[in-house]
Amino acid sequence: MSSTVRPRPTRGTSLAARLGQSRVAARIEGEMRVTAADLVDSVSEAKLKVAAVRYKVEGEVRNTAEKFKTRVNEAKTKLGDEARFIKSWIDSPLRTGSVTPSGPALARRMASFVDPDLPGPVIEIGPGTGPVTEALIERGISEDRLILVEYSPEFCKLLRERFPRATVVEGDAYALSKTLAGHLNEKAIALVSSLPLFTQPPPMRTALAKDAFTLLIEGAPFIQFTYSVISPVPRKGSHLKAFVSDWVLRNIPPARVWVYRQVL
Ligand SMILES: C[S@@+](CC[C@H](N)C(=O)[O-])C[C@H]1O[C@@H](n2cnc3c(N)ncnc32)[C@H](O)[C@@H]1O
Repeated sequence: MSSTVRPRPTRGTSLAARLGQSRVAARIEGEMRVTAADLVDSVSEAKLKVAAVRYKVEGEVRNTAEKFKTRVNEAKTKLGDEARFIKSWIDSPLRTGSVTPSGPALARRMASFVDPDLPGPVIEIGPGTGPVTEALIERGISEDRLILVEYSPEFCKLLRERFPRATVVEGDAYALSKTLAGHLNEKAIALVSSLPLFTQPPPMRTALAKDAFTLLIEGAPFIQFTYSVISPVPRKGSHLKAFVSDWVLRNIPPARVWVYRQVL
């Protein structure tokens, strides 16, 4: 009788096998930990990126909204000024002299003849809603140096709101010295006029220029715009030298700027 030696059945796994298994398990666990940590890092990184993009997009949206708001406000102001002008023109066409305010190109051209480095006040007559006033400030004349003479009480109210540091004098520019009595502490370095001079007879325009030069320092300019082809201040016998600019075509209607100075 032959006897077969059968292997003894083992109970469970051998130690070696178990050792091998636990090493594999440990390695897998370690790798999983690393993967999990990587995953956490990636998620945090992604979150940061999303937050950065969101911040950027929100910033851009805020900027665009601000710009849009500013444009809407500017358009509203412009429309408001146009409406005020039309109303003023309907009430008093000869005094207002124009249906719309001067455009920025004409206003800047007028302001360009004022030397901002000279100290002293600048007189503006007929400022209306203030386009030339704005151009003067842009040119470097601080608001508190500006003496604004305007006939219309509505425009004066608006000018006081818009330029709170300027001196706004409600009155008649054709009686300039009288109107400015007590408002001008020293002679001005320039006078900028938007008055519709052609609505008045020549002697009145001559008298205005003569009076104005008594309030200005020697050599100071009297600056006047006009839509007309001829000089708004009569030249004959005026003892004034004059310079006239080219046409500012971007203004509607196109206009020119006359600069008068006394012959010394
Ligand atoms: C043609 S608008 C010019 C307004 C503004 N400077 C512009 O360029 O749009 C003339 C302005 O002169 C003012 N004005 C007319 N006669 C005046 C006078 N005698 N004294 C003061 N202002 C006067 C009007 O009320 C009006 O605001």
